[in-house]
Amino acid sequence: MNGKRVLVGVTGGIAAYKSVELVRLLRRAGAEVQVVVTRAATEFITPMTLQAISGRVVRQQLFDPVNEAAMGHIELARWADLVLVAPASADFMARLAAGMADDLLTTLSLATEAPLVLAPAMNRAMWRNPATRENVARLIRRGIRMWGPAVGDQACGEQGPGRMLEPAQLIDQVQRLLAGGLFSDVQLLITAGPTREAIDPVRFLSNRSSGKMGYALARSFAAQGALVTLVSGPVSLQEPPGINCVQVETALQMRAAVMERVAACNIFVACAAVADYRPLEVMARKIKKQAQRLRIELIRNPDILAEVAAMDVAPFTLGFAAETERPVEQAEQKRISKGVDAIAANLVAAAEGGFERDENALTLLWEGGRKQLPMMEKGLLADELVKQMAEIYAKKG
Ligand code: CTP
Repeated sequence: MNGKRVLVGVTGGIAAYKSVELVRLLRRAGAEVQVVVTRAATEFITPMTLQAISGRVVRQQLFDPVNEAAMGHIELARWADLVLVAPASADFMARLAAGMADDLLTTLSLATEAPLVLAPAMNRAMWRNPATRENVARLIRRGIRMWGPAVGDQACGEQGPGRMLEPAQLIDQVQRLLAGGLFSDVQLLITAGPTREAIDPVRFLSNRSSGKMGYALARSFAAQGALVTLVSGPVSLQEPPGINCVQVETALQMRAAVMERVAACNIFVACAAVADYRPLEVMARKIKKQAQRLRIELIRNPDILAEVAAMDVAPFTLGFAAETERPVEQAEQKRISKGVDAIAANLVAAAEGGFERDENALTLLWEGGRKQLPMMEKGLLADELVKQMAEIYAKKG
């Protein structure tokens, strides 16, 4: 980050104490840092602390007679290579979404032509509130990047989405953004692996997905700068470094993990082999072998991909179609019926690639286009798929 100019905005939230560490790490990575605080931020952290760490006088006032004599807010907006607001409170996002310019930080956010990134931090109910949802969607549509929030323990004692990303994660992301990969401005959510549907305490229904393709894709997108969250069913793979991993077991858990995070993402990739059905009843005790025949009644699981694609403000969606025959034809039908932007057709017959293998071949289909990716190692295939996706995503605007 040598010589890069990062303007760090700090708004009013308990996570403001983490901004000190963020500024320290940015400086250590070689960036020049100018901190701008809102009035509410100063209730949580003093400008003096931030000034000492950043090595520059912290700016707060819009109507500052000294700095505004030279149009200080415009000068700040031009100065920055990147504007990173961390933490971004619900109130700040609402003001930004409304296009208001009622303090120095909102004003320079409107005036800047540099990438603008928000790291939201708030109580989980505030994050889930429809007002915040609408504001987030509007901001994302305008090209404002949203990093996080993470899901976890909250200062208010609750649990859920709303934690600010850790400073080290933010730094990692700033580095990717400034380095400029194909997806450096993208927040991506991906599912991978199989799901397990319990029959009784010791048995489950599942499938042969190894998770290798999904994990390879998560790595390839991250290598191109995306901020990746991987929701994974049970697999025997290492969690990839630099990727936020969420482990789940059942289709219902996978759906909940996706729905909790999807509002903040630009791209959703459904690579998981989600069980289409689960046992209607899960036995509390192990089923004993008494009867000669045993029936297990199954009930449909929700289709996560179709649900995400049907959202009012849906992210760009990439699905997979695992087929044992006529893969391209069936995948095209799935693309249209689920309303997804692109789908990768995958033949999973025994002699081919697909499940449990290290190699695979895919045909990527999107509206008005198709690209065949021949049999190759899944890591290489993921890189090719990501390159192709960058073109389709850019076209979709
Ligand atoms: N998918 C999903 N949730 C489900 C089932 C599937 O998100 N409950 C996603 C998969 O991750 C994949 C796509 O939908 O991206 C297609 O999955 P696939 O199993 O090939 O098709 P299905 O829709 O389940 O249809 P069928 O099993 O009848 O072929």
